[in-house]
Amino acid sequence: PTAIEIKKLINTEADGSARKAFENEMNSFLKLLSRYLEQKSRPPSLDWSTIKALAPDQVIPYEELTESASIDSLKKLAILKLNGGLGTTMGMQGGTKAALEVHNGLTFLDMTMQQVLHVNSTHNVDVPLLFMTSFSTYDETLRITRKYANQPIKVTLFNQSRYPQVAENTYLPCPKNTNEGKTWYPPGHGDLYTALDRSGVLDALLSQGKEYVFVSNSDNLGATVDEKILQHMITCKSDFLIEVTNKTNKDDTGGSVVDYDGVVRLVELEQVPPEHVQDFMSAKHFKSFNTNSMWISLKAIKRIIGKGELELEIFEKRVSGENERAYIQLETAAASAVKYFEKPKVINVSRSRFLPVKTCSDLLLIRSDVYQIQNGCLVLNDNRLFQSPTIKLSDQFRSVDQFQRRFKTVPSMVDLDLLTVTGDVHFGRNVTLRGIIIVAAEEGRRIDIPDGCILENRLVTGNLNM
Ligand code: UTP
Repeated sequence: PTAIEIKKLINTEADGSARKAFENEMNSFLKLLSRYLEQKSRPPSLDWSTIKALAPDQVIPYEELTESASIDSLKKLAILKLNGGLGTTMGMQGGTKAALEVHNGLTFLDMTMQQVLHVNSTHNVDVPLLFMTSFSTYDETLRITRKYANQPIKVTLFNQSRYPQVAENTYLPCPKNTNEGKTWYPPGHGDLYTALDRSGVLDALLSQGKEYVFVSNSDNLGATVDEKILQHMITCKSDFLIEVTNKTNKDDTGGSVVDYDGVVRLVELEQVPPEHVQDFMSAKHFKSFNTNSMWISLKAIKRIIGKGELELEIFEKRVSGENERAYIQLETAAASAVKYFEKPKVINVSRSRFLPVKTCSDLLLIRSDVYQIQNGCLVLNDNRLFQSPTIKLSDQFRSVDQFQRRFKTVPSMVDLDLLTVTGDVHFGRNVTLRGIIIVAAEEGRRIDIPDGCILENRLVTGNLNM
């Protein structure tokens, strides 16, 4: 029945090349769905007793890398930013998180462009920058990157797939036509390999003599080109290198790279049997987690896709659609492809290479004076003595719109250790926060932190008399 409904959807498109492309996309979707149904009917493929944390000699600390890649090797590199996500956790209403401003009118996209322009001008190379976008992020990404048309940087945008949500029990597609925006979704960053191939971008890169691609999340401004990591990949003749970083007490729920029966493999939280979730998340057993920054051989991608081998684990995401009915989205993750590649390597990098923006608390931090910008990179403020502060904003700050309404300007936080905000709180202009600050508004009451207010080691539970 799903295939019949999909056929009806295809028939809503006018004949022509767009329809052909849509048909191909829907056939890939039906394959994914049938793999998912088959996967569901079998016992879980992951045998917990086979999983081991990587041995110390399987994870190379970044500090041990000494040699930098030559200019010739840099010339074989391309940079790819994963920028197709919907940013649902931050309540984005279409568009891309990467178009949000970080500092001085510069968005994530602008800063990424500046990072690559800096690499190109410093080494006199022409490393191209690619963005994998989706139907939801393409226009905004194009609008911002187009501003750099006259700069010495080659930018390519290519769209990933667009799949229909399906009803939880019947697996019938939710959209009735191709325009119902909210019922379609980009099927995770694991779509990268198919999208690179199908768009022709993979062949174009190979024909330009590119051999390696550095892939990372568009919201991670710490994921910059690193010549030592590139050289390590080349020296080891590795086809896939993953950057991991140590867990902290900041609740890291990312997947872990593990030893699975002697094979390096990514395990996501969703795959872990409930009784082992605590162990999986604790830093005692699995000390590091996947940052989603990956260095991959382009020739190897071509080879693996050519053999038709790439069948990534499918994750099911539950979403509530029309009339609160439950729908599911089938998604895949880019790093789970590691098991298909030769000589995979894992590098343990410092937190400075992993500055993701998953929540508005993360956004507040990178917008603040805790960081300064140098050549498009975020670097800790010289006056910051310790690592970045911990920020926990309440649910009232969940969506970007709510967050922006609640801060007239970003407070100065260079001397802040911890900020916890609960309830209905609004921050005025030019507020300074130092030490440990807790602002707790009781339910039904609102707290306004006045313009110019300086708070140091304070618990605030009501409006301040200033
Ligand atoms: P996340 O899985 O964290 O998704 O993506 P997200 O869009 O940032 O946020 P939520 O989950 O919707 O709240 C990590 C990176 O992968 C990209 C995102 O744009 C982000 O840079 N991504 C995600 C894709 O390119 N395509 C996808 O289908 C999903």
